Amino acid sequence: MKRSYECDLSAFWEAVASDYDVVADQFPARYARAVDLVCAVGSAATRNGGVFIDLGCGTGRALARVVSASPSSRGVGVDASAGMLRLAKERLSQQETSHAALLLQYDVASPGLVDAVTRHLRSFCRVPRVVAVAVAFVGHDLSPSKRTMLLKSAARLLDTEGVLVVADLFSPDGEGETRLAALRELDEVSRCLDATDSGRLSAAASIWTDHYRTHSFDWTVDSVMGLLRQQGLEQTRKIFFAGQVGVVTAARR
Ligand SMILES: C[S@@+](CC[C@H](N)C(=O)[O-])C[C@H]1O[C@@H](n2cnc3c(N)ncnc32)[C@H](O)[C@@H]1O
Repeated sequence: MKRSYECDLSAFWEAVASDYDVVADQFPARYARAVDLVCAVGSAATRNGGVFIDLGCGTGRALARVVSASPSSRGVGVDASAGMLRLAKERLSQQETSHAALLLQYDVASPGLVDAVTRHLRSFCRVPRVVAVAVAFVGHDLSPSKRTMLLKSAARLLDTEGVLVVADLFSPDGEGETRLAALRELDEVSRCLDATDSGRLSAAASIWTDHYRTHSFDWTVDSVMGLLRQQGLEQTRKIFFAGQVGVVTAARR
């Protein structure tokens, strides 16, 4: 079976972007709880100001919540998908704090990420202090070398006092089991959407199901922690929901 990262996922994300929120809202509660945790960490870190950066921000679900929870905070969302960013922009424009967030179309696994984000940050706030960086549900679809690049960049972007939060589908007990569990959940989501009269939505859900039926993923929390330790970060918290969806927070030693 092919790994998830052995195919070009950019077309995949563009295809599901417009229906991402509706499909994601049907996911089991553990996904929502993981995003809640990302938001809680981001909001706590930015309560006295500072910047929250969401790498692979998608439709801005976490970004919008964090900047609206902390009025003096600033947010940066980075994503490769124009469709996802369009929705993130719409979401932000619906709240009063839209001026507090900046969106950037960029490959989060590219070596130029830190420079690109830093350049944009300077035009956005005078003395940027990045107090939280989130990497949510983006790493499991990247190749090991791209994940390494992503986590290294996330650590470099973080201020000395900052906190990094990684939420994802991990493989604590072997990737086969995790993939099958994810697949079962996606099948459930598809069935649930099939019950509605929108063929478009069930098509978006089945794009995901088809992907997981034919591809596996292999990201483990241990590999995340090993990498973050090399970057001078230590785990501060690790939570698993049903053994698959995990959230890890890390800060400088
Ligand atoms: C499953 S969604 C997660 C979105 C958001 N973090 C959330 O939790 O709702 C994955 C997102 O990562 C983005 N993505 C995947 N690979 C990327 C890359 N190399 N660079 C930037 N964004 C990427 C996709 O476009 C998509 O928006």
